[in-house]
Amino acid sequence: MDFQFQVSPAQGLSSVAADALLVVITGKVPPTGLDKAVATLLADAVAQGDFEFKPGRVLYVHRPAGVTAARLAFVGAANPSPKAFKAAVSAGLGALKALGVATLVVARPGSDALGDGHAEALVTAVADAVYVYRHTKPSAPAAPKLTSVALLGSRRESAAASRGLARGQAVAAGVALARECGNRPANHATPSHLASEARKLGKQYGFDVDVLDRKQITKLGMGSFLAVAQGSAEPPRFIVMRYQGAAKSKAPVVLVGKGITFDTGGISLKPGAEMDEMKFDMCGAASVLGTMRAVGEIKPKVNVVGLIAACENMPGGRAVKPGDVVTSMSGQTIEILNTDAEGRLILCDALTYAERFKPAAVVDIATLTGACVIALGSHHSGLFAADEGLGADLLAASQVALDPAWRMPLDEEYDEGLKSNFADMANIAGRAGGAITAAMFLKRFAGKFPWAHLDIAGTAWKSGAAKGSTGRPVPLLTHFVLSRAG
Ligand code: BES
Ligand code: MN
Ligand code: ZN
Repeated sequence: MDFQFQVSPAQGLSSVAADALLVVITGKVPPTGLDKAVATLLADAVAQGDFEFKPGRVLYVHRPAGVTAARLAFVGAANPSPKAFKAAVSAGLGALKALGVATLVVARPGSDALGDGHAEALVTAVADAVYVYRHTKPSAPAAPKLTSVALLGSRRESAAASRGLARGQAVAAGVALARECGNRPANHATPSHLASEARKLGKQYGFDVDVLDRKQITKLGMGSFLAVAQGSAEPPRFIVMRYQGAAKSKAPVVLVGKGITFDTGGISLKPGAEMDEMKFDMCGAASVLGTMRAVGEIKPKVNVVGLIAACENMPGGRAVKPGDVVTSMSGQTIEILNTDAEGRLILCDALTYAERFKPAAVVDIATLTGACVIALGSHHSGLFAADEGLGADLLAASQVALDPAWRMPLDEEYDEGLKSNFADMANIAGRAGGAITAAMFLKRFAGKFPWAHLDIAGTAWKSGAAKGSTGRPVPLLTHFVLSRAG
């Protein structure tokens, strides 16, 4: 897909040549500066009750009179923000993407300036709309014909918009990879498959990738990670990706992804209903791969390490049992009271491994708790930060990336429930505040660097008719990494 910025023609929107013209209308009255043909169409549509100045309202016009473009759609936006612009573009694409539209031009007439955020939002909205999962469904509907998208604006807006389009394409490439990995079933997206995706990225973008197997993981002393992996015949992988965009001496940002390629719950077996969705339990890992791809595209002056702990959580004959005590790489012992609280068990060893990079910041990303879905639903990811600066940076990144997160507490009081009579800690506390106690468990392994945790259990995929991976929080993470670039 090709994205460009185009300076609005002096003759007005009706002279734009394209298969379709999408006109985003902000506010409650017709925008200023519309040429006669388009203004007449809009006024008539409003007079006939066919269009209202309301967010998400779409009117499609085929072969509009006096307009060069073969198709035109008006769509309402709530306000001038990038967020409202993205929502409007997505609604407009809903009406256009199934048609024979190859070239699309998007305009937002009026006096509000377009910035890089609008351009980025346009790209990510288009990329989301045209993605079709096909790997195990060759009969899936053909992808939309769209090949080229242009954003119209003034010469003054050109530099910022072009920057936004480029950044949007990098983010979209990362999101697409994360979605694809997430959507592939667990018999395809195995730990070894994630490792081969990481190796491919390393080759393509020129960064180092190391993949550790069970033997090497054992040698490192990752007893907690291995306890989860031991119930499955599928071999675990620990993946290390190192992107170097700044001086070697510069402390890196480390991203740590939960890569449970299938979570049955283990001996603490999950109920059968919707268990298929536990193929998405590697979406944290997928977001690390996606972010490494976006970083590879943008090449920012920052060092980034991507770590992925990947295995299946299965109830095999050798599986870890409730009450078993294991020794983590940190030396701390853990009583595994519930084998379904496995994410924290693989992440804690990955956090200990992260220490060797003397990181400027460590962010782990995990589909960690059902409790987070109950707390925040599917709009905001849960953001837990032991370091105020890091928490603020991640929150700011989530806002500009239009990939929302919400700060959650990490007070010491929540640690209470993790006490065990038989180990340094238990892997679960009571039901109350489950997303927080899970984060408190991880915090015990993250004392040596600024650390934050994103619980993406509610945001990484959608259930129901639109079941599928969202690619979140690749936009948030990419913006965060960029915010740390010199
Ligand atoms: N992968 C799940 C979390 C999850 C559940 C994500 C539902 C999305 C939807 C995680 O491994 C898990 O099973 N967590 C348990 C923890 C509990 C045993 C303390 C949970 O949330 O029930
Ligand atoms: Mn689980
Ligand atoms: Zn899990």
